[in-house]
Amino acid sequence: MQVDRRARKPVKYARVSRKREVMIFYVCILNAKQGGAYMLSTSIDRIRKHIETFAGFNATPRIGCTRVSYSPQYRQAQDYLVRECEAAGLAVSIDAIGNIRARREGTAPGARAVLSGSHIDTVPHGGNYDGVAGVVGALEALTVLAENSISLSHPIELIVFVEEEGSVFGSTTAGSKALAGVYGVDDLKRLKDNEGKSFFDTAAEYGLDPAAIGRFRLDGEKIKAMVELHIEQSVVLESQGFPLGVVQAIAGIRQFSIELCGVANHAGATPMNLRNDPMAAASRIITFVEEAAAQKAFDTTVGTVGRIQCQPNVSNVIPGRVVFTVDARDVKPEGLETMDRLLRSEVKRVADEYGLTATVDLLGESRPITLSQNISGVIENAAINRNVSFLRMNSGAVHDACLLADITDVGMIFVPSAGGRSHVPEEFTTMEDIATGCDVLLDTLVELAR
Ligand code: GLV
Ligand code: MN
Ligand code: MN
Repeated sequence: MQVDRRARKPVKYARVSRKREVMIFYVCILNAKQGGAYMLSTSIDRIRKHIETFAGFNATPRIGCTRVSYSPQYRQAQDYLVRECEAAGLAVSIDAIGNIRARREGTAPGARAVLSGSHIDTVPHGGNYDGVAGVVGALEALTVLAENSISLSHPIELIVFVEEEGSVFGSTTAGSKALAGVYGVDDLKRLKDNEGKSFFDTAAEYGLDPAAIGRFRLDGEKIKAMVELHIEQSVVLESQGFPLGVVQAIAGIRQFSIELCGVANHAGATPMNLRNDPMAAASRIITFVEEAAAQKAFDTTVGTVGRIQCQPNVSNVIPGRVVFTVDARDVKPEGLETMDRLLRSEVKRVADEYGLTATVDLLGESRPITLSQNISGVIENAAINRNVSFLRMNSGAVHDACLLADITDVGMIFVPSAGGRSHVPEEFTTMEDIATGCDVLLDTLVELAR
């Protein structure tokens, strides 16, 4: 269980009104009394098999799951998924940077597609459920439709976004940004990994044709909806005892790279008043990020410094250069604006004080979004019909669905995360909870594609 050590900022979330809870309760009883209508069901055994198989594609066995985009483990996961999609009769395609789409056709000519999916990349030493739950959920829903020869008017597509985590190039949801037209070839050349290799060159080496990314831009005219199943990655569902969350809003994000350059020198021989030490300056800025998010912005703002590199990274040398990231998030756009402004002015102030040169680059951003009330309603009806109680809530984590919100109606389903842990080896969701989410996703997709 996570402990709020300062108890400064109570977590706010929307819950279903008391009236609606009572209504859900009676609908559940009524359904149970009627023995429940015939329903399609996802297979918990198949879901378990998929999740365990993905977990095996892992560069760091025993220290969490590491499957970053374009790695050998990522290719194994991609190949497995493609095989499973083909076995379910889906038409599979992979775009210019590795986003995967697998389509089951509808019966109505020209009907807009209903999309569902998530991502199969992980953070380094992450867990086995983030992203994978939503990919497996959509695959399982499509498999059940194929098994039962269900015909629906609209096509349904599994969509898997590459580099959702930003683990390689520092910008989250990079694959969906490219599909939404937010990133083009120039961005793929601008974004670099830790060794300085560009996204563009990495995708080309993986055997793709990143120069063609513009051709794969999603067309809103051809898409009816996007529904993503995901683990919650926080404690709200577990602590409130709900098996399902219906997401109302997703926090926006701004990710910065900050470079501080000073003068590398001898750690023993250089007096304290003759130093230009970028590491000492970075520590000031890092503390400021925590204080600004907790006290100066809004009660919904969060700020994190998660990556830092220093050169030459030697114990008896004052560093010459330090580069670190700042990740700021908020469901309120003003919170992101405030963090952006405060951060830039603090970096300038500290760099002047320490005699350093400083640059602040915005690596990537997505704005806070409100999800479709219409799709939330479809998800809630699906939950009610299955006697699954649910909570309306917001997402602090960012998701590919954010980028699709400019193109189509978007909905998200959350399932509980044990202890609220995520992006760590301890990340865990029970198979039963995932299967419940998959069933609700299945019904939602059927309703939207009907
Ligand atoms: C993606 O998982 C993010 O919220 O950083
Ligand atoms: Mn995710
Ligand atoms: Mn994640």
